[in-house]
Amino acid sequence: THLVFHDNSWAGRVTLREGEEGAGSGHDRPGMSEVRMEGGPLRCWVVAGTPARVLRGWTALTGSPALPPSWALGPQHARWGFGSGREVRRVVSGYRERGLPLSVLHLDIDHYDGHRVFTVDQERFPDLPGLARELREDGVRLVSIVDPAVPAAPGDAVFDAGRAVGDSGAFVRDGGGRIVRGEVWPGECVYPDFTDPQVREWWGGLYAERLAQGFSGVWHDMNEPVSFAAFGDPTLPRSARHALEGRGGDHREAHNVYGLAMARAGYEGLARLRPDERPILFSRSGWAGMQRYGGTWSGEVSTGWPGLRASLSLVLGLGLCGVPYSGPDVGGFDGSPSPELYLRWFQLGAYLPLFRTHAAIGAGRREPWEFGPRVLEAAREVLVERERLRPYWVTLARLARLTGAPYVRPLWWGSPGDRALRDCEDAFLLGDALLVAPVLGPGLCERAVRLPPGRWYDTVSGAVHEGPGQVVVEAPLSRVPVLARAGSVIPVRGADGGLELEVWAPVEGRGGGGSVVRDPGDGWEEAVVERYTSRL
Ligand code: NOJ
Repeated sequence: THLVFHDNSWAGRVTLREGEEGAGSGHDRPGMSEVRMEGGPLRCWVVAGTPARVLRGWTALTGSPALPPSWALGPQHARWGFGSGREVRRVVSGYRERGLPLSVLHLDIDHYDGHRVFTVDQERFPDLPGLARELREDGVRLVSIVDPAVPAAPGDAVFDAGRAVGDSGAFVRDGGGRIVRGEVWPGECVYPDFTDPQVREWWGGLYAERLAQGFSGVWHDMNEPVSFAAFGDPTLPRSARHALEGRGGDHREAHNVYGLAMARAGYEGLARLRPDERPILFSRSGWAGMQRYGGTWSGEVSTGWPGLRASLSLVLGLGLCGVPYSGPDVGGFDGSPSPELYLRWFQLGAYLPLFRTHAAIGAGRREPWEFGPRVLEAAREVLVERERLRPYWVTLARLARLTGAPYVRPLWWGSPGDRALRDCEDAFLLGDALLVAPVLGPGLCERAVRLPPGRWYDTVSGAVHEGPGQVVVEAPLSRVPVLARAGSVIPVRGADGGLELEVWAPVEGRGGGGSVVRDPGDGWEEAVVERYTSRL
């Protein structure tokens, strides 16, 4: 395998054509990629070798992935349209009363006062720090949405403070020196220029308000950046000026790195303000190197079976691009999923790094008990399994930081020369040990799975399958098929909450093993990688 990085953030066009084998004629059509940028350097990096080697090289070039604290690897719930603190409590108690694990709850723009960033609607959330404390005692963290656009309104504290930053203020200007205005949720808005180090420092300091409200993490949104438009690009004008680290330039070069620079501002701000805890954020927009600050999510993936399939391609693709922490809006963003679609999405999401239900305002609810008792039971099972595997997730996160290897990997990760595995996009490896085969279509109770070489066990029935090859596994509505590699050692949470090792019998004479990294906490502690081997 090889990775090619066209190191140029300008606007441009990329054309990719897959290669084709010559169907017996001997005339193969080679793959092709053509990249045309509107400016910037002709600078290109190529890393070749095994997938593991390529990702290690990529990490050396663009940085190691940030390490999510353990709580960010638990089940998460969000919805655009949480009307009040009361409703937040109702949802959290709904999880608790039904014995469903929940680790994080996200507050969308509805908790803002008039949709203004770094504010809280005091009528609907009269004591947010108190609510956050109460939830935290119950094991639930709060994450806040943060939008970059600031209302262009004198009197707005962020707008006034931003205008006083440095010599010319924090906001993006046009060639004539006027502040560029756009339109977002609060109405007319202005945009911080995150490509200016002074602006990043100022913006990072604003997260003190979020921490004081009791939030543990942040969710960056609308940071392409968006300016609503009836026609044309819904973003800043291409002529808008940016500092670009002092070099100066326009939006054609800055657009693609705007979200990345905002992530840097947020991450560095949080690290300064709360030095004992690792920051975690995830961001809708980003660029190469985004992983240094956190992850991303599917954005507004459409409710429907194609959206479910896209969720998996997205996470696999991002992992291969060096961003291992991501996941979809479980259930899809924009519509009401059928109980079956919701459940299949939930089952897939439970095996992806960022496991979060989310929906648009008016798109219905996403709590697991809203889809009938059968769905609730199956959702409970997969939630409990997700939590049982938490030590494995913690280990995968640590290994991703150390080696660049994503938690979620394509089936061909260890055998990139295998064409049949290369073509397989409906299953994935979770670390070295597990193979997850989600159901991605309606009305199915079994599915075919293509296996990489080696022996694999069905984790529920214990049935043995020998790879390489294709097998059919049972996939009733109540479960997602998961296979374990023979010989693997998987750290899991035992019934008493302590760490246990789950070992899958190796093939006689072959042996196996696995790594374990115990969670030393949410700070900056060094990881100790323990290596276990199994033999029969
Ligand atoms: C757009 C985001 O993609 C979505 O997740 C969010 O709910 C809305 N903005 C409202 O903040």
